[in-house]
Amino acid sequence: MCCWRARDLLRLQMGRNGRDVRNLASEDLEDTEDSEDTEDPEDTEVTMESEELMDIMRSRRSIRAFHPDPLTQDQIDTLIEALLSAPSAGNLQSRQFFFVTNKELQRELVRAALGQDFIAEAPLVVVACTDARIQRRYGSRGTSLYSFMDVAASVQNAMLVAQAMGLGTCWVGAFNEEPVHALLKLPPNLRPVTMFPVGRPAERPRAPHRVSRTAAVSFVE
Ligand SMILES: Cc1cc2nc3c(=O)[nH]c(=O)nc-3n(C[C@H](O)[C@H](O)[C@H](O)COP(=O)(O)O)c2cc1C
Repeated sequence: MCCWRARDLLRLQMGRNGRDVRNLASEDLEDTEDSEDTEDPEDTEVTMESEELMDIMRSRRSIRAFHPDPLTQDQIDTLIEALLSAPSAGNLQSRQFFFVTNKELQRELVRAALGQDFIAEAPLVVVACTDARIQRRYGSRGTSLYSFMDVAASVQNAMLVAQAMGLGTCWVGAFNEEPVHALLKLPPNLRPVTMFPVGRPAERPRAPHRVSRTAAVSFVE
């Protein structure tokens, strides 16, 4: 599984501008989409073939059984890069991630997640939050729509690069938000919207059914 090149996958996603724009006053937010350091396309060597990327997407499964061995620092750094390199509305990156490795906290997360025990089997659980400060620029559409898309794009990035590194993940949306908010001592602007365990898979689930192309896609010419 590790023949997939996680670094190549990240390079496909990464920009170079890493500045934190989330604390800017609303009048300053206008500038955040500007490309300050446009790269010469010749500089960006992409060696991963699209078919390799498709293989990663096709083979990713929701994993609900994990080996307990901890992740390496390199794996954690790669997951962070993947989360941060996702697109976001106005490039506001209106999202926050909490990497939970403490077992007692993980068991509390299981309780909040209606007893989904597999969550605490994994060495790492990432809790992903929207940040209501996006409202400053985009109003209710920002808080009710864009912020969730921002988080979802990050989470999918992380899940794909985890797969490329031979790690399993499972998107967990079924949980009570209040206890998670309290457990992580979150400020009022942050809302936990998903969590996902990450670890070495202890199962190989079959691919579940997907709808046909015709059921899901219409061509409008
Ligand atoms: C928004 C969302 C919420 C989900 N919540 C849960 C959950 O709470 N528990 C769980 O075991 N799986 C959850 N899943 C995973 C789905 O069950 C899984 O993606 C789906 O069955 C397809 O399987 P696959 O991921 O292996 O392709 C969630 C997925 C999404 C996108």
